[in-house]
Amino acid sequence: MTATGWWFQAKHALDTRGPFARRRGRTLAGAVASRRVLITGASSGIGRAAAIELGAAGAVVILVARREAELREVVDAVTARGGQAFAYPCDLNDAEASEAMIGKVLAEHGGVDILVNNAGRSIRRSLADSYERAHDFERTMQLNYFAAVRLMLGVLPGMRERRFCQVINVLSVANLFGGPRYSAYVASKAALDEVSTCFQAETLHENITFTSVYMPLVRTAMIAPNKQYADAPALTSEQGGQVICDAIVRRPRRMGPTFGRLVRLTDAISTERADVGRHRRYNSGI
Ligand SMILES: NC(=O)c1ccc[n+]([C@@H]2O[C@H](COP(=O)([O-])OP(=O)(O)OC[C@H]3O[C@@H](n4cnc5c(N)ncnc54)[C@H](OP(=O)(O)O)[C@@H]3O)[C@@H](O)[C@H]2O)c1
Repeated sequence: MTATGWWFQAKHALDTRGPFARRRGRTLAGAVASRRVLITGASSGIGRAAAIELGAAGAVVILVARREAELREVVDAVTARGGQAFAYPCDLNDAEASEAMIGKVLAEHGGVDILVNNAGRSIRRSLADSYERAHDFERTMQLNYFAAVRLMLGVLPGMRERRFCQVINVLSVANLFGGPRYSAYVASKAALDEVSTCFQAETLHENITFTSVYMPLVRTAMIAPNKQYADAPALTSEQGGQVICDAIVRRPRRMGPTFGRLVRLTDAISTERADVGRHRRYNSGI
């Protein structure tokens, strides 16, 4: 791994404050023992890694994605580590199928304590290449926003009755830095961030936490087609899964690199200055 890669990972570990959470005596096993964790996009990448870690720590993991064979493999991996996992193959773009899946999960498990909205679609395309592609904006909203909202609406009534529940939305550092060439993707994730802030305001007294995870670059199938990331510093899928586990242990409202949060602050104080930074990044080809 390059020196930049090590720096990136060390800095990330500090930013997510995992070690500090453990020092306060909170552990993953303590946070998830017998809790029902529904994780979407569990058939590969970050979701798969998180599901295996959570199942091994004692959570009852409820796995959702389209590819059934891959979900079954995750069930086997969790079971081999002594945990419990259940596969619910579902195309989350299909509203009817999603609602049927949520109904089945609630009937079979009695509720969901932690929902991880992790399934996602990313599109890298500049404005100049998007004039004929309004459907890019629709399909990112379909999965990254509408599907996630549908799941929240399905599980929140039970969560509000039980209290001490959590919804984790896997967003991107691009939501902090701004994402030239990722307009459709970033906008769909931002919509999820905003709706969660509204829901948080309405449920604060019920001890429901909405956690926005501004995930850094992770080497998964999602970034494989983008050759410009071939040598970029990136977390492994397991480290990405660990970020989700840390979010469950710490229950923060927002979780992401400190530098990205400073960029957001700069934007709040001087959007014009932040625009210059974003334009520079666009010109650099990132
Ligand atoms: N990798 C990165 O650098 C990075 C950075 C920031 C944020 N993220 C976010 O992290 C999350 C996980 O991505 P990843 O990197 O782990 O990519 P990945 O390995 O490609 O995983 C994407 C997951 O989403 C599922 N999915 C896609 N379409 C679906 C649909 N219609 N219905 C149900 N499930 C669907 C896929 O499963 P099936 O194909 O089996 O349906 C797969 O399990 C995404 O939300 C992504 O935006 C990733």
